[in-house]
Amino acid sequence: MLEKSARVKRLQGSERSQRKISIPQDAIRLDLGEPDLPTPLHIQEAATRAMRDNFTHYGNAFGDEELREAICFSLQRDYGVQRKPDEVLITVGGMEAIHLICATYLNPGDEVLILDPEYSAYADSVALFDGRTIFVPPDGEFSSRFPNH
Ligand SMILES: Cc1ncc(COP(=O)(O)O)c(C=O)c1O
Repeated sequence: MLEKSARVKRLQGSERSQRKISIPQDAIRLDLGEPDLPTPLHIQEAATRAMRDNFTHYGNAFGDEELREAICFSLQRDYGVQRKPDEVLITVGGMEAIHLICATYLNPGDEVLILDPEYSAYADSVALFDGRTIFVPPDGEFSSRFPNH
């Protein structure tokens, strides 16, 4: 049996990721981004069509070019943000993106501000790449507490 790395063992000690919570039955969870609706039919059909068309092989390592162009279009139309496709990287989900950001930009001891309550994997990702999380409660005092950020 392979021994887990010291890095991963350190995460297992994380109090936040071990925290047990009890959730009242009628509570609305705000800590998870899991949609409570089924995947819309047109998305199911597009995915099925893509698989039938054999669109299942390796493509551009940065992500499908047509998808990156569509994301740039949406960023501009919906948020007024201008980006070029070569500034967009497709990941398999939010956590891969967060891991890549931490891996790319964090040096040991760098501080990362995370709004609290948070998705617990964010702090684990920061710890994995030797950063230090500072939890920021949503009390409206952000700018006075962190005037230089
Ligand atoms: C707030 C939040 N961030 C990130 C994630 C992880 O996203 P992904 O599954 O796309 O890696 C989740 C998943 O529930 C989430 O709720």
